[in-house]
Amino acid sequence: MRWFFLILAISVVAVVYALGPRGEKFSSPPFLLFPDMDNQYKVKPQKPSGFFANGQGARMPVEGTEPMGHSFPIAGAEESGRERSELDYSSGTDYLNTGLFGDFYGKGFPAELEMDEAFLARGKQRFQITCTPCHGESGNGAGVVSKYWMIPPTANLLDPRVKAMPEGQIFWTITHGKGLMEPYNGVTSVRDRWAITAYLRGLQAASGN
Ligand code: HEC
Repeated sequence: MRWFFLILAISVVAVVYALGPRGEKFSSPPFLLFPDMDNQYKVKPQKPSGFFANGQGARMPVEGTEPMGHSFPIAGAEESGRERSELDYSSGTDYLNTGLFGDFYGKGFPAELEMDEAFLARGKQRFQITCTPCHGESGNGAGVVSKYWMIPPTANLLDPRVKAMPEGQIFWTITHGKGLMEPYNGVTSVRDRWAITAYLRGLQAASGN
Protein backbone atom coordinates (compact mmCIF):
# COMPACT_ATOMS: atom_id res chain seq x y z
CA MET A 1 0.00 0.00 0.00
CA ARG A 2 2.84 2.33 0.84
CA TRP A 3 4.30 1.78 -2.62
CA PHE A 4 1.01 2.54 -4.21
CA PHE A 5 0.85 5.96 -2.52
CA LEU A 6 4.46 6.66 -3.38
CA ILE A 7 3.86 5.86 -7.08
CA LEU A 8 0.64 7.87 -7.03
CA ALA A 9 2.46 10.86 -5.51
CA ILE A 10 5.24 10.61 -8.10
CA SER A 11 2.67 10.37 -10.90
CA VAL A 12 0.79 13.41 -9.60
CA VAL A 13 4.02 15.41 -9.41
CA ALA A 14 4.97 14.26 -12.95
CA VAL A 15 1.57 15.22 -14.38
CA VAL A 16 1.54 18.58 -12.61
CA TYR A 17 5.08 19.19 -13.78
CA ALA A 18 4.18 18.34 -17.38
CA LEU A 19 0.99 20.41 -17.45
CA GLY A 20 1.95 23.05 -14.93
CA PRO A 21 3.94 25.45 -17.12
CA ARG A 22 0.96 25.98 -19.44
CA GLY A 23 0.03 29.62 -19.70
CA GLU A 24 3.54 30.78 -18.89
CA LYS A 25 5.63 32.58 -21.47
CA PHE A 26 8.84 31.11 -22.82
CA SER A 27 11.39 32.73 -25.03
CA SER A 28 12.45 29.50 -26.74
CA PRO A 29 10.10 27.76 -29.23
CA PRO A 30 8.09 24.84 -27.84
CA PHE A 31 9.20 21.28 -28.43
CA LEU A 32 6.82 19.87 -31.05
CA LEU A 33 6.19 16.15 -30.97
CA PHE A 34 3.89 16.44 -33.98
CA PRO A 35 4.94 19.50 -36.01
CA ASP A 36 1.68 19.65 -38.02
CA MET A 37 3.27 22.24 -40.30
CA ASP A 38 3.25 24.76 -37.46
CA ASN A 39 6.51 26.16 -38.77
CA GLN A 40 6.57 27.04 -42.45
CA TYR A 41 8.71 29.11 -44.74
CA LYS A 42 6.38 31.91 -45.75
CA VAL A 43 6.14 35.65 -45.80
CA LYS A 44 3.61 37.20 -43.47
CA PRO A 45 1.96 40.53 -44.33
CA GLN A 46 4.08 43.54 -43.36
CA LYS A 47 6.98 41.34 -42.20
CA PRO A 48 10.57 41.48 -43.38
CA SER A 49 12.05 38.68 -45.44
CA GLY A 50 15.66 37.71 -45.93
CA PHE A 51 14.73 36.10 -49.24
CA PHE A 52 14.46 39.34 -51.20
CA ALA A 53 17.40 41.66 -51.79
CA ASN A 54 15.76 44.68 -50.18
CA GLY A 55 14.76 42.67 -47.09
CA GLN A 56 11.11 43.56 -47.57
CA GLY A 57 8.55 40.74 -47.56
CA ALA A 58 5.81 42.60 -49.44
CA ARG A 59 6.40 43.00 -53.18
CA MET A 60 5.46 46.00 -55.25
CA PRO A 61 2.49 45.27 -57.55
CA VAL A 62 3.40 44.67 -61.18
CA GLU A 63 3.23 47.86 -63.21
CA GLY A 64 -0.29 48.48 -64.47
CA THR A 65 -1.94 46.53 -61.63
CA GLU A 66 -5.40 47.83 -60.78
CA PRO A 67 -7.35 47.05 -57.63
CA MET A 68 -10.74 45.49 -58.39
CA GLY A 69 -13.72 47.76 -57.98
CA HIS A 70 -11.80 50.97 -58.69
CA SER A 71 -11.42 53.07 -61.74
CA PHE A 72 -8.06 54.29 -62.95
CA PRO A 73 -6.70 55.59 -66.20
CA ILE A 74 -5.45 52.43 -67.90
CA ALA A 75 -2.17 51.78 -69.63
CA GLY A 76 -2.44 51.70 -73.43
CA ALA A 77 -5.71 53.63 -73.34
CA GLU A 78 -5.07 55.28 -76.71
CA GLU A 79 -4.70 52.00 -78.59
CA SER A 80 -7.72 50.38 -77.01
CA GLY A 81 -9.86 53.49 -77.41
CA ARG A 82 -10.84 53.35 -73.76
CA GLU A 83 -9.72 55.89 -71.25
CA ARG A 84 -10.83 54.38 -68.02
CA SER A 85 -11.51 50.88 -66.85
CA GLU A 86 -14.60 51.40 -64.72
CA LEU A 87 -16.50 48.86 -66.81
CA ASP A 88 -14.05 46.13 -65.92
CA TYR A 89 -14.41 44.70 -62.42
CA SER A 90 -16.34 47.47 -60.73
CA SER A 91 -18.45 46.52 -57.77
CA GLY A 92 -21.22 49.08 -58.21
CA THR A 93 -24.80 48.40 -57.23
CA ASP A 94 -26.45 49.60 -60.45
CA TYR A 95 -27.97 47.49 -63.22
CA LEU A 96 -24.73 47.48 -65.21
CA ASN A 97 -22.85 45.83 -62.36
CA THR A 98 -25.50 43.53 -60.92
CA GLY A 99 -28.06 42.69 -63.59
CA LEU A 100 -30.68 43.63 -61.01
CA PHE A 101 -33.18 46.40 -60.55
CA GLY A 102 -33.75 46.24 -56.81
CA ASP A 103 -34.72 42.61 -56.13
CA PHE A 104 -35.59 41.79 -59.74
CA TYR A 105 -33.59 40.67 -62.75
CA GLY A 106 -33.56 43.44 -65.33
CA LYS A 107 -34.59 43.09 -68.95
CA GLY A 108 -32.46 44.48 -71.78
CA PHE A 109 -28.87 45.69 -71.85
CA PRO A 110 -27.49 48.58 -69.76
CA ALA A 111 -27.50 51.92 -71.55
CA GLU A 112 -23.77 52.40 -70.82
CA LEU A 113 -22.82 49.68 -73.30
CA GLU A 114 -22.35 50.31 -76.95
CA MET A 115 -23.84 47.29 -78.68
CA ASP A 116 -21.77 47.30 -81.85
CA GLU A 117 -20.20 44.59 -83.95
CA ALA A 118 -16.94 44.67 -81.99
CA PHE A 119 -18.90 44.09 -78.79
CA LEU A 120 -20.59 40.99 -80.20
CA ALA A 121 -17.31 39.72 -81.62
CA ARG A 122 -15.79 40.09 -78.17
CA GLY A 123 -18.77 38.22 -76.69
CA LYS A 124 -18.30 35.40 -79.18
CA GLN A 125 -14.60 35.10 -78.41
CA ARG A 126 -15.20 35.14 -74.63
CA PHE A 127 -18.10 32.67 -74.90
CA GLN A 128 -15.97 30.26 -76.90
CA ILE A 129 -13.17 30.46 -74.35
CA THR A 130 -15.20 30.48 -71.15
CA CYS A 131 -18.50 28.71 -71.75
CA THR A 132 -18.09 26.18 -74.59
CA PRO A 133 -16.21 23.53 -72.58
CA CYS A 134 -19.44 22.91 -70.69
CA HIS A 135 -22.27 24.43 -72.71
CA GLY A 136 -20.96 23.59 -76.20
CA GLU A 137 -20.12 25.90 -79.07
CA SER A 138 -23.77 26.32 -80.02
CA GLY A 139 -24.85 26.60 -76.37
CA ASN A 140 -26.81 23.33 -76.49
CA GLY A 141 -25.17 21.95 -73.35
CA ALA A 142 -23.18 19.26 -75.14
CA GLY A 143 -19.75 20.68 -74.46
CA VAL A 144 -16.74 18.41 -74.27
CA VAL A 145 -17.03 18.19 -70.49
CA SER A 146 -20.52 16.68 -70.72
CA LYS A 147 -19.01 13.61 -72.36
CA TYR A 148 -16.91 12.86 -69.32
CA TRP A 149 -18.02 13.79 -65.83
CA MET A 150 -20.68 16.45 -65.84
CA ILE A 151 -23.50 15.03 -63.70
CA PRO A 152 -26.14 16.42 -63.73
CA PRO A 153 -25.77 17.50 -67.33
CA THR A 154 -24.88 21.10 -68.09
CA ALA A 155 -27.81 23.34 -68.90
CA ASN A 156 -28.89 23.65 -72.52
CA LEU A 157 -28.73 27.40 -73.10
CA LEU A 158 -30.96 27.15 -76.18
CA ASP A 159 -33.79 25.81 -74.06
CA PRO A 160 -36.93 28.03 -74.13
CA ARG A 161 -36.57 28.30 -70.35
CA VAL A 162 -33.16 29.99 -70.64
CA LYS A 163 -34.31 31.94 -73.68
CA ALA A 164 -37.12 33.39 -71.60
CA MET A 165 -34.73 34.55 -68.89
CA PRO A 166 -34.19 38.31 -68.74
CA GLU A 167 -30.73 39.52 -69.76
CA GLY A 168 -30.06 40.54 -66.17
CA GLN A 169 -30.56 36.96 -65.00
CA ILE A 170 -28.04 35.61 -67.51
CA PHE A 171 -25.56 38.29 -66.46
CA TRP A 172 -26.27 37.41 -62.83
CA THR A 173 -25.75 33.68 -63.50
CA ILE A 174 -22.38 34.33 -65.15
CA THR A 175 -21.45 36.63 -62.27
CA HIS A 176 -22.44 34.33 -59.41
CA GLY A 177 -22.54 30.88 -61.02
CA LYS A 178 -25.20 28.28 -60.38
CA GLY A 179 -25.01 24.72 -59.05
CA LEU A 180 -21.86 23.18 -60.50
CA MET A 181 -21.15 26.28 -62.55
CA GLU A 182 -18.66 28.50 -60.81
CA PRO A 183 -18.94 32.30 -60.60
CA TYR A 184 -17.08 34.20 -63.30
CA ASN A 185 -17.04 37.65 -61.69
CA GLY A 186 -13.37 37.36 -60.79
CA VAL A 187 -12.10 36.38 -64.23
CA THR A 188 -14.59 37.90 -66.65
CA SER A 189 -15.08 41.66 -66.63
CA VAL A 190 -18.47 43.32 -66.37
CA ARG A 191 -18.27 44.40 -70.01
CA ASP A 192 -17.30 40.88 -71.13
CA ARG A 193 -20.12 39.31 -69.14
CA TRP A 194 -22.61 41.53 -70.96
CA ALA A 195 -20.89 40.80 -74.27
CA ILE A 196 -21.24 37.06 -73.62
CA THR A 197 -24.91 37.61 -72.74
CA ALA A 198 -25.44 39.46 -76.03
CA TYR A 199 -23.71 36.72 -78.01
CA LEU A 200 -25.79 34.08 -76.23
CA ARG A 201 -28.94 35.95 -77.25
CA GLY A 202 -27.69 35.70 -80.83
CA LEU A 203 -27.14 31.93 -80.50
CA GLN A 204 -30.63 31.52 -79.06
CA ALA A 205 -32.21 33.56 -81.84
CA ALA A 206 -30.33 31.53 -84.46
CA SER A 207 -31.35 28.21 -82.91
CA GLY A 208 -35.03 28.74 -83.69
CA ASN A 209 -36.13 27.13 -80.42
C1 HEC B 1 -17.76 24.14 -65.59
C2 HEC B 1 -18.85 24.03 -66.53
C3 HEC B 1 -19.59 25.31 -66.87
C4 HEC B 1 -19.08 26.43 -67.47
C5 HEC B 1 -17.64 26.68 -67.91
C6 HEC B 1 -20.17 27.32 -67.63
N1 HEC B 1 -21.31 26.77 -67.14
FE1 HEC B 1 -23.17 27.58 -67.21
N2 HEC B 1 -23.92 25.96 -66.24
C7 HEC B 1 -23.19 24.85 -65.87
C8 HEC B 1 -24.07 23.91 -65.18
C9 HEC B 1 -23.68 22.57 -64.60
C10 HEC B 1 -25.36 24.53 -65.14
C11 HEC B 1 -26.63 23.98 -64.49
C12 HEC B 1 -26.68 24.56 -63.11
C13 HEC B 1 -27.89 24.14 -62.32
O1 HEC B 1 -29.00 24.29 -62.83
O2 HEC B 1 -27.68 23.66 -61.20
C14 HEC B 1 -25.22 25.80 -65.84
C15 HEC B 1 -26.25 26.69 -66.02
C16 HEC B 1 -26.18 27.83 -66.78
C17 HEC B 1 -27.31 28.70 -67.08
C18 HEC B 1 -28.75 28.45 -66.69
C19 HEC B 1 -28.97 28.90 -65.29
C20 HEC B 1 -30.33 28.55 -64.77
O3 HEC B 1 -30.84 29.32 -63.95
O4 HEC B 1 -30.89 27.51 -65.15
C21 HEC B 1 -26.82 29.73 -67.83
C22 HEC B 1 -27.61 30.90 -68.39
C23 HEC B 1 -25.40 29.51 -68.00
N3 HEC B 1 -25.04 28.36 -67.34
C24 HEC B 1 -24.56 30.33 -68.71
C25 HEC B 1 -23.19 30.16 -68.80
C26 HEC B 1 -22.32 31.08 -69.49
C27 HEC B 1 -22.77 32.30 -70.25
C28 HEC B 1 -21.05 30.60 -69.33
C29 HEC B 1 -19.76 31.22 -69.80
C30 HEC B 1 -19.44 32.47 -69.16
C31 HEC B 1 -21.13 29.37 -68.56
N4 HEC B 1 -22.45 29.15 -68.25
C32 HEC B 1 -20.06 28.57 -68.22
C33 HEC B 1 -21.86 24.62 -66.10
C34 HEC B 1 -20.99 25.52 -66.66
